Amino acid sequence: MSNDFKPLQGMSDITGNDVLKWQQIEEQSRTVFDTFGYSELRTPLLEKSEVFLHSLGDSSDIVKKEMYALEDRGGRSLVLRPEGTAGTIRYLASLGEEANNLRVYYIGPMFRCERPQAGRKRQFHQIGAEFSSSPNPYADVESIMLQFELLKKYGINDSKIKINTLGSQNDKKNISHGMLTSLNKVKNKFPAKYQNRIDDNVLRVLDWKDEECKKLISELPLITSFMSEDSLIYFNKVKDILTEMDIEIEHDPKLVRGLDYYNHTVWEITHNSLGSQDAIAGGGRYTIQTGKKQINGVGFALGIERLILASNNEGEDLPKKNGYWIVSLGENTIIENMKLSNKIRSLGHRCGMDLENKSIKSQLRKADKFGATKVLIRGDQELINNKIIEKNLDKGSQQEFDLNEWIGILGERNASI
Ligand code: HAM
Repeated sequence: MSNDFKPLQGMSDITGNDVLKWQQIEEQSRTVFDTFGYSELRTPLLEKSEVFLHSLGDSSDIVKKEMYALEDRGGRSLVLRPEGTAGTIRYLASLGEEANNLRVYYIGPMFRCERPQAGRKRQFHQIGAEFSSSPNPYADVESIMLQFELLKKYGINDSKIKINTLGSQNDKKNISHGMLTSLNKVKNKFPAKYQNRIDDNVLRVLDWKDEECKKLISELPLITSFMSEDSLIYFNKVKDILTEMDIEIEHDPKLVRGLDYYNHTVWEITHNSLGSQDAIAGGGRYTIQTGKKQINGVGFALGIERLILASNNEGEDLPKKNGYWIVSLGENTIIENMKLSNKIRSLGHRCGMDLENKSIKSQLRKADKFGATKVLIRGDQELINNKIIEKNLDKGSQQEFDLNEWIGILGERNASI
């Protein structure tokens, strides 16, 4: 395709049969969210920079180098949302008391100016959920459980939930200090280019992928050794409830997240088939300061592009289209067939037809493109006799009906046939 017609690098047009998969995932998500009592929240794509700057963390990759930041005509500094939690909390902060214990979900595009590669886009889409609750292990488990149900609904089986604790807000200072002290003792053994990065964010060191670094990291004390007893009790409770609820998890003591607002329970869901970008979801408990308000919550976001890759790799079938395509034999029949197509649609069925007088072969090709499962054929003869021919494209069989009788049958058919 000529560059003139391509979307920006790392962004895609989503079209044709792919859209069916997207719609299916969105519908399945809405059904599950509804059963959990979550309602939809649609926040703007563009927000003031402050909404993201401090909540995500000044040392996070997103704030340091991945935000699509721009200035509007009034000189205001704005950002295309890179994730959904900060905007949700901005909205909740505007509500006052009502914001407590609210459960909301969102589905939509996010923007990060990352280096594009398989499973990593610059415009990608998330299905996310947030529950504004004070620290409470049951709430954390409910959020994990919700994700578990979503994955079941999508038919994803080959995923793994890894969880960890980052300790309470009050533990953060102790953990940073403890980790920095331990790291400083071995700092000069790290490759030179990593040594300066240690001070940026000591927790993120645990996520470094370089083999030489990984070996040194494996010898560091666990972050739990710098946490309060209460935080450890909190995490054990989360794990116990998960076991009670039959949700299989793996405790990964080195799991940290790329955003600063997290505390207590954090998790990531990976899929075996996805290679280096294998996280299909990430979440956790958090505290976000907006203006003078501090809001606690727990939530997660699933990446739709990666979910679809995982689902395709598990061999999930693409959803099928269905419906009727009317083939007109001769120009005279087009107007009568247009009336019929509207009758069919009014009964809740998909229906299409060619509006030009083309050959039967060409009309049948279009039926296939439309995704019809049945073709209806009407020419002058059928109009005179008030008849209709129905051809079943799957079976290849066809049958003639009296038109009124056929409409009666159609009224009783399920719209998905
Ligand atoms: P996150 O881990 O940054 O968390 O993103 C969540 C998911 O979005 C990832 O697991 C991945 O599936 C998808 N994702 C992220 N970046 C990209 C990308 N460049 N291309 C394709 N997919 C991507 C958050 O965004 C948090 N707000 C989640 C959360 C909600 N935590 C609490 N509440």
